Parts: sequence; structure tokens; C-alpha cells
Amino acid sequence: MFMENKLLFVIHALLFLQLLIVAYQPVSGQRGNDGVIVTQSDYQALRAFKRELVDFTGVLRSWNDSGHGACLGWWAGIKCVNGQVIAIQLPWKRLGGRISEKIGQLQALRKLSLHDNVLAGPVPLSLGFLPNLRGVYLFNNRLSGSVPPSIGNCPLLQTLDLSNNSLTGTIPSSLANSTKLYRLNLSFNSLSGFIPTSLTKFPSLTILALQHNNLSGPIPSTWGAGNRNHSYKLTILTLDNNLISGTIPSSLSKLGFLEEIYLNNNQISGTIPDEIGELTRLQKLDLSNNAINGSFPSSFSNLSSLVSLNLEGNRLNNQIPGGLERLQNLSVLNLKKNNFSGHIPASVGNISGIYQLDLSENKFSGKIPASLSSLDNLTSFNVSHNNLSGPVPSLLSKKFNSSSFAGNLQLCGYSASTPCSSPPPQILPSSPPAEQPLKKKHHHKFSTKDKILIAAGALLAVLLLLCCILLVCLVRKRSASKGMNGTTAKQAADAGIAAKAVPSSAGVEYGGEAGGKLVHFDGPFVFTADDLLCATAEIMGKSTYGTAYKATLEEGNEVAVKRLREKTTKGQKEFETEAAAIGKIRHPNLLALRAYYLGPKGEKLLVFDYMSKGSLASFLHARGPDTIIDWPTRMNIAIGITRGLCYLHNENIVHGNLTSSNILLDEQTNAHIADFGLSRLMTAAANTTVIATAGTLGYNAPELSKSKKATTKTDVYSLGVLILELLTGKSPGEPMNSMDLPQWVASIVKEEWTNEVFDLELMRDVPTIGDLLLNTLKLALHCVDPAPAARPEAQQVLQQLEEIKPDQATGGSAAEGGAEVPPQEAE
Ligand SMILES: *[C@@H]1O[C@H](CO)[C@@H](O)[C@H](O)[C@H]1NC(C)=O
Ligand SMILES: *[C@@H]1O[C@H](CO)[C@@H](O)[C@H](O)[C@H]1NC(C)=O
Ligand SMILES: *[C@@H]1O[C@H](CO)[C@@H](O)[C@H](O)[C@H]1NC(C)=O
Ligand SMILES: *[C@@H]1O[C@H](CO)[C@@H](O)[C@H](O)[C@H]1NC(C)=O
Ligand SMILES: *[C@@H]1O[C@H](CO)[C@@H](O)[C@H](O)[C@H]1NC(C)=O
Ligand SMILES: *[C@@H]1O[C@H](CO)[C@@H](O)[C@H](O)[C@H]1NC(C)=O
Ligand SMILES: *[C@@H]1O[C@H](CO)[C@@H](O)[C@H](O)[C@H]1NC(C)=O
Ligand SMILES: *[C@@H]1O[C@H](CO)[C@@H](O)[C@H](O)[C@H]1NC(C)=O
Ligand SMILES: *[C@@H]1O[C@H](CO)[C@@H](O)[C@H](O)[C@H]1NC(C)=O
Ligand SMILES: *[C@@H]1O[C@H](CO)[C@@H](O)[C@H](O)[C@H]1NC(C)=O
Ligand SMILES: *[C@@H]1O[C@H](CO)[C@@H](O)[C@H](O)[C@H]1NC(C)=O
Ligand SMILES: *[C@@H]1O[C@H](CO)[C@@H](O)[C@H](O)[C@H]1NC(C)=O
Repeated sequence: MFMENKLLFVIHALLFLQLLIVAYQPVSGQRGNDGVIVTQSDYQALRAFKRELVDFTGVLRSWNDSGHGACLGWWAGIKCVNGQVIAIQLPWKRLGGRISEKIGQLQALRKLSLHDNVLAGPVPLSLGFLPNLRGVYLFNNRLSGSVPPSIGNCPLLQTLDLSNNSLTGTIPSSLANSTKLYRLNLSFNSLSGFIPTSLTKFPSLTILALQHNNLSGPIPSTWGAGNRNHSYKLTILTLDNNLISGTIPSSLSKLGFLEEIYLNNNQISGTIPDEIGELTRLQKLDLSNNAINGSFPSSFSNLSSLVSLNLEGNRLNNQIPGGLERLQNLSVLNLKKNNFSGHIPASVGNISGIYQLDLSENKFSGKIPASLSSLDNLTSFNVSHNNLSGPVPSLLSKKFNSSSFAGNLQLCGYSASTPCSSPPPQILPSSPPAEQPLKKKHHHKFSTKDKILIAAGALLAVLLLLCCILLVCLVRKRSASKGMNGTTAKQAADAGIAAKAVPSSAGVEYGGEAGGKLVHFDGPFVFTADDLLCATAEIMGKSTYGTAYKATLEEGNEVAVKRLREKTTKGQKEFETEAAAIGKIRHPNLLALRAYYLGPKGEKLLVFDYMSKGSLASFLHARGPDTIIDWPTRMNIAIGITRGLCYLHNENIVHGNLTSSNILLDEQTNAHIADFGLSRLMTAAANTTVIATAGTLGYNAPELSKSKKATTKTDVYSLGVLILELLTGKSPGEPMNSMDLPQWVASIVKEEWTNEVFDLELMRDVPTIGDLLLNTLKLALHCVDPAPAARPEAQQVLQQLEEIKPDQATGGSAAEGGAEVPPQEAE
């Protein structure tokens, strides 16, 4: 027993442990007792599993004893609960051989992750007998045979990724029986046959990736046809590089969450349904290299989220309708190799972020609109092989070489060999001079009447000419001024950036564990309860509310997970109501709650954004001796905290536990307040403990020791302490001469040794920032006034900090003549 406890201790000490262990071990001291010896049946299954593998790297050498170590964490890649194997995770291990059918004996198995190996043979049919299976990750192997229809029997399956293998046969329609399935990736195989219509009636399905197969037949037309009460979550639909034919079904428009559609490189024909314009979240649409005909739908101007549109290599014709200027997020527009005609719409010039525009190999005519010159970020531009005419706007001809314009017989001015006749722009006013020679033909004999007519004509011609010259001058002046703007403007250096978009999904709910529940709020990643519970976790810290972990999900994304202490939270219903309210709060200086998980045994996990620079406390007090934190960085943190607090107070939320351990810093050292609203999830008793603990840390306003009730004024007091902490570099937890930090600062200020209080490293800059430090110090002391009524509101603190801040810039740059400006390294 002692051994086992010690082992657990070692794992903790290494700061590496699986959340899983934490979430599933019964609480309190008896952890080591509970079924850590693997069951006989699971042991035999693992033995059989090992026997059929070829272990090129020796990773399975740890599976050497009689099963004793299997569930103690000694066997590589095995995780257990109560002596039953719940996860096999051996990706990137060069494992060969095949996956034993005996795997079906691991009745508690939730996750099978063997991706990026060299496994051959079939996907075991027996996976279908695993009632707890949630995640199957077998991608990037050499598996053959077909997708076993039995997998549809797994009621809790959420992720099935068999992509990049050599699977053949058809997609079993029974997969739709796994009603929790949310990510299905069968791409990069040799699957054939039709796409089963059952996949279209699948409310939980969020990602469907079937690209690079041999699928044929039409795209099913029954999307969203199930129970209308369901909201269909499909976000990514990837069917490219198959042999799909037929038309694009208008029912796709019922999938209101769609963000990305890839149907390129198929044999799709017919027209683009107008209804696609209803997909207002659509960011990427790729229909290239099909046989689509008809016109560019005018409804596309409603696709306000669109970032990338690729229609290359189809048979689209007619003019492009106007209204494209509404696609303000568009950065890639590719209409190459179609039959578009008419003018290039000038409205494209209003899509300021566009960086790739390919209109080549169409039948566009007329001039290139001058508005395109204003697209500062345009780095890739092609209008070759059209019927364009007239001069190329000078800015475009400077930026792009002649291959962008070639193949337009009447286009001029884009290369030395295509000069526009006479001085560049159309100085030859085409019609009037052409008429004059005609008149000169019968010029030998004229009467006075003729003379008058001729004089009037000449006058008219002169006037016309004058008008033309005037016009030309105007045009030149305008394009010249545009040209100047253009050449000074920066071009997009990194062409990849704008097209990047992260799928997000709001309010999705997945049942995790039997009885477990994961509730998502909007955020950058979607993950399942399974992803979360099987994530690698690292302890970051413990607080009165619970333990915080950094968890790394299967895709490498990082989140922070807080496991709340048992018996400190309110009942489930109340908890969920409050958590939902906290999950709605979004502010750049508040740490966003992305999800919560309620486990079957009452465990409660909160999922937040992960902040790479850790807490302000460790940033300030646990840094290396050579790490200097300059004043602008500290001021930025102070302002960030104050902005976050103002927002909370405006929402009538009192934080109640503002400490430097609760201020987290992102990569850019911006402050994010954590733990706000948590008091609402907690019982009154738990909150009293929190207040008591904070008291020992030195952030509590004096009145809290009696009232025990946090208010906006006690928050402002804590804010004042935080600003003092930033100014002095001292931790409020360490008393100085038996005084707390505010008392200590006040005592020194009273003795007019004010500069003594500041952090030494700030003193270097005192000649330039002395006043700023003093003003900030005064403000902080105002906040920690012992009388609550005398303290300012958070809003007033913010105003004053912002008034202090602008001086910082002038103060910093206006270094007195010759004085050395201290280097401002932030890290
Ligand atoms: C089993 O393998 C582990 C790790 O490779 C090793 O420490 C241990 O001594 C081995 N046990 C036996 C019985 O071979
Ligand atoms: C498929 O897997 C192979 C290695 O097994 C890898 O080289 C290749 O990049 C993968 N293809 C895709 C599309 O991921
Ligand atoms: C599907 O699998 C392929 C190949 O492994 C991978 O490249 C792609 O990113 C996956 N798609 C999704 C949406 O998971
Ligand atoms: C599974 O799917 C098949 C085909 O879609 C269906 O006929 C069958 O009834 C389903 N079975 C269950 C248990 O739902
Ligand atoms: C796809 O099917 C075609 C015939 O329909 C066949 O020639 C080709 O080899 C198949 N491709 C793959 C990758 O299976
Ligand atoms: C589901 O739809 C039915 C009618 O189709 C409606 O009466 C019912 O209120 C709906 N339920 C929900 C939860 O929207
Ligand atoms: C598109 O092509 C199909 C034949 O492939 C034809 O029947 C249809 O009329 C065409 N539609 C348009 C709008 O050109
Ligand atoms: C764009 O959407 C609005 C509102 O849904 C609709 O009234 C309008 O007809 C749509 N425009 C086009 C061109 O489809
Ligand atoms: C455009 O992009 C920005 C930044 O990515 C995003 O905040 C905004 O919501 C997008 N607009 C629309 C209409 O999707
Ligand atoms: C474009 O239209 C012409 C007839 O106007 C037709 O001959 C040609 O095949 C079409 N091109 C494409 C790529 O569809
Ligand atoms: C397009 O941009 C021009 C200036 O470049 C402006 O005058 C015009 O109003 C814009 N049109 C729209 C619809 O935004
Ligand atoms: C142009 O590109 C730069 C750098 O990629 C980007 O910061 C800027 O927002 C872009 N401009 C527009 C108008 O989108």
C-alpha cells in the first residue's frame, strides 16, 4: 500500500498526470486501494493485442510482467479505471502487424489511439462490441478491408478517424446508429459507392471528411430532413477529390452552422443553388474543377463571413452581379477558367482585405476597374486570357508582371511591348479627330455658309479638344495620387494569414461518460468529453476552489482545466444556471469559460483558455534574476486588470477574490482576470473559506474581516493592492515590519521617502517616468483607503490610469538631450 501511495506521490511530484486518474479515482485517501490490478480478462486481451503487433521500437517492452503493472502506469500507453483498461494510446510508435480482434474483450475501452503507425490488416469488427467506446483514432496507417458496419453499434462513439489508410468498400449506413458521432473522418482511402443518406440525418455530426476516395453518385439531398427540432451542427463538409456527380443540393442551406464546404475535383454539374447564400457562417467554399454551369448567384453577396471562394475550372457564365463589396472578409477570390463575361465588377475594389484575385481564362471585357488599384494587400493578381481592353491602371502594371495581363488583345501599358498608342493614357481622343479628315475631303470649294459652318465646327472641335485635355489631366492627376498611396502602402507579407479561420461552435452539448455531461460555450476549439478526459494534464496550481491543470488535447490544442473541490459547489441545477451565465461573459481582460463538465460521480470541471505566461504572481515574484519587467508592461497589466474589473462591476458581478494568482497573462502579457463569478457556483461555506484564505494573502479590505461580504469596494481595495504589488515588486503576502503592503507603502510615503517604495529596476527610469510612478502610487493608495466610501469606483480608477498612461509615451521618447535611454527589454 505504501508503495502505491508513494507512486502516486511521485507522479504528482513530476507534475504529470492524467486528468482521468483524478477524475475517476474515488476521492480522499483510499486511492491506492481501489482495483489497480488489471482484471484477468483485460490482461489476456492486452496480451493477445501485443502478440499480433510488430514492435519495431521496443515500446511494448514495458508490457513484460504478469499484468501487475498494466494499470499502475508501467505499461506504456495503457490507462485503467478500477482495473479495467479504458484507453490504449500508442500513436507515433512505428507499430506494425495488425490490431487483434481480442480488443473487443476490453469492455471498458473508451479510447483507441494508434494513429501514425504502420499497422496493416483490417479494422477489427469487434470494436462494435465495445459499449463505452468514444474515440477511435487509427489514421495514418496501412489498414485495409472495409469500414466495419458493426461500429454503428457503439452508442457513445464521438470520433471515428480512419483517414489515410487503404480501406475499400462502401461507407456503412449503419454508422448513423452511433448517434453521438461528431467527427467522422474517412478521407484518403479508396472507399467507393454512394454517400449514405443516413449521414444527412445526424444532428450530432459536426465534421464530415470523406475527401480523396473513390466515392461516386450524387451528394445526398436530404440534409437536415430529420426531426426539425434538431439543430444540425455540421460545420465542416469535405467531399473533394472523389467521383461525385449530380448537382449541389439546395438542402445544404439547412445546415446553418456550416463554415467550410469543399466539393472541388469531382464531376458535379448543374447550377449553384441560390439558397447557398443563406449560409451566413460560411467562410470557405471550394467548388473548383467540376462541371458547374449557370451564373454566379447574386445571393452570394449575403455570405458575409466568406473568406475564400474558389470556383475555378467550371462552366459558369454571364456577368458577375454587383454587391460583392459586402463580402468584407473575403481574401481569396478565384474565378479562373470559366465563361464569365461582362465587366470586372468595380465593387471588387471595395473588398479591402483581398490578397488573391484570379479572373484569368474567362471572357471578361471592358477596362480593368481603377478601383482595383486601391487593394493594398493584393499580392496575387491574374486577369490573363480575357477580352479586356484599354490601359492597365499604372499601379497594377507596376506591381504585377506581364503574365498577369497577357492574352488580352486590346489591353495595353503593362509591358514595354504593349504601349498604349501615344503617351500612355488615351491622349488620342478617339472620335473627334477621326471626323475631321472626313470633312477635309470636300474642302476645295466652300461658300460663306460653309465657312461659317467650318468656323463653328473648328470652334466646336477646339472646345472638344480642350474638354478632352482637361479630362485627361484630371484623370491623370487622380490616378497619380492613387499611385502614390499605393506605392507607399505596405503589401501583405504573409499570404497565409487572412485565410485562416478556426471553427467554433456555440452551446454544443455532448454526453460524455454515462451520466456525464459536457456543455460548451463559444470558443476556438471544439472537443468532446472524451478528448478532455483523455487529455494529457499537468498540474498548474491549487487554490481554495480546486486544482488547475494544463490539458493538451489530441490535436495539440491547450486548455486550462479547473477541477472544483468536492462538496463546495451548489446543487447541479443551480450550478448549471450560474455556469451558463459565466460562460456568456466575454471580455479581452477576463478569462473566458469555454465549457464545463459534470461527471457521473459529481466531479465538476471548468475549461478555460490556457494562458501561456502563467499568473501575475509567478511573473512578478518567480522570475529569473536577469528578467526585467519594464514600466509599460506593468502599466499595461494594471490597465488590463482595471478594464476587466470595470466590465464585471458593470455586469453587477463582484469578484471577491482578486489576487495576483488570479491574474493570468497571455503571450502578449495582457492581463486576464480568472475565477470571476466562481463564488456564484459555490456554497456559502466555501465562499467564507475563500475570503478567509484571501485574508492571509493580503488582498482583503479591512471591513471584510467583520462583514464577510465582498462588494465592489472590497474589489477596488484588492485592485489597489495589485497596483502596489506592480509598483513595488513586493508580494502582499509577506508582511514588512508587521505591516501589510498598503500600510508599509503609506508609512514610507508619509516620511517623504517615496522613491524607496518602487521596485528597484523601475528606479533606472525615474528621470523619465518619475511622475507617472508617483501618480499611479497616489491612485493605488486612494484605492486602499481604509474607509470603503472614500475609495473610487473601478471606472474612475480606469479613467485615471488612462490619463496617466499617454504621458508615458511622450515621457519615454522625449529623453533629454544626450541622456541615455535605458533599454526596454520586456523579458
Ligand atoms: C519490465 O520493464 C520495465 C521497464 O522497461 C523494467 O523496469 C522492469 O524491470 C521489467 N520487469 C521485468 C520483470 O522484466
Ligand atoms: C498519410 O500518411 C503518410 C504516412 O503514413 C504520410 O506521409 C502522409 O503525409 C499522410 N497523408 C495525409 C494526407 O495526411
Ligand atoms: C481528416 O483526415 C485527413 C488525413 O488524415 C487530415 O488531413 C484532415 O485534416 C482531417 N480532417 C478533419 C476535418 O479532421
Ligand atoms: C442500425 O442501422 C441500420 C441501417 O441504417 C438499421 O436498419 C438498424 O435498425 C439500426 N440498428 C439499430 C440498433 O438502431
Ligand atoms: C477508383 O476507381 C477507379 C475506377 O472506377 C479505379 O481505376 C481507381 O484505381 C480507383 N482508385 C482508387 C484509389 O482506388
Ligand atoms: C418540436 O416540434 C414540435 C412540432 O413539430 C413542437 O410542437 C415542439 O414544441 C417542438 N419542441 C421543441 C423543444 O422545440
Ligand atoms: C447546365 O448544363 C445542363 C447539362 O449538363 C443543362 O441541362 C442545363 O440547361 C445547363 N444550365 C444552364 C443554366 O446553363
Ligand atoms: C440576402 O438576405 C436577405 C435577408 O435574408 C434577403 O432579403 C435578400 O433577398 C438576400 N439577397 C440576395 C441577393 O439573395
Ligand atoms: C470578419 O472577420 C473578423 C475577424 O476575423 C470577425 O471578427 C468578423 O466576425 C468577421 N465578419 C463576419 C461577418 O463574419
Ligand atoms: C464557354 O462558352 C462557349 C460558348 O460561348 C463554349 O464553346 C465553351 O465550351 C464554354 N467554355 C467552357 C469552359 O465551358
Ligand atoms: C466603394 O469604394 C468607393 C471608393 O473607393 C466608394 O466611393 C464607394 O462608396 C464604395 N462603395 C460601396 C458600396 O461601399
Ligand atoms: C492587409 O494585410 C495586413 C497584414 O497581413 C493586415 O494586417 C491588414 O489588416 C490587411 N488589410 C486589410 C484592409 O485587410
